[in-house]
Amino acid sequence: MTIKLPAPDLTGTMTVEQAIRSRRSVRNFSDSVISMAAVSQVLWAAQGISGGGGVRTVPSAGGLYPLEIYCVAGAVDGLPAGVYRYAMFGHELVPVVEGESRESLAAAALGQKCVRGGAASIIIAAVFDRATGKYSRRGIQYATLEAGHAAQNICLQVVALGLGTVAIGAFQDDKVKYAVRMRENETPLYIMPIGAV
Ligand SMILES: Cc1cc2nc3c(=O)[nH]c(=O)nc-3n(C[C@H](O)[C@H](O)[C@H](O)COP(=O)(O)O)c2cc1C
Repeated sequence: MTIKLPAPDLTGTMTVEQAIRSRRSVRNFSDSVISMAAVSQVLWAAQGISGGGGVRTVPSAGGLYPLEIYCVAGAVDGLPAGVYRYAMFGHELVPVVEGESRESLAAAALGQKCVRGGAASIIIAAVFDRATGKYSRRGIQYATLEAGHAAQNICLQVVALGLGTVAIGAFQDDKVKYAVRMRENETPLYIMPIGAV
């Protein structure tokens, strides 16, 4: 059963300049639980629908939208621990794995403690075929660039929420894929643990 997320808040008070100025990689998180509203906000910033025709919060070459977003929740108020796929059109979460998965995700990320320590992690994955069908090999570059857009949106949104994150690129693809039960045609590009600072 899908879990409906609260609508994104469009009235935050931090300016873009303040968020850019304050962004810093955070690797030590407190044990605090984060809210479902915060998770909702971050997912929306990463890949949410922001207008008619399915346009999104990040640019996409040819509007092909090759990215998929997963959330590994551990300490999120009102959200059972588990792995979820973000369904942007309904702004909802589709359960994929039940139960605590932060440990296995951290192991897949070469044991990086911040992955276990975050209240949740957002994983950005690409389905390269969606872009290479039109752009051939260049589609791989385009999808990877787009992951950078999504990651930066996450960074700035997290700062605006008063939380912290770090963009993690060091991990074993196959282990991350297994930990979150990704589909065969998805490639993980970034893990972004999120938590209170
Ligand atoms: C592509 C990429 C991969 C990264 N991978 C990791 C990682 O695996 N672990 C980590 O702790 N930080 C990782 N980082 C974060 C960088 O270490 C960090 O951004 C850099 O030290 C600059 O610090 P700042 O983000 O606080 O400005 C990565 C950053 C990028 C852009």
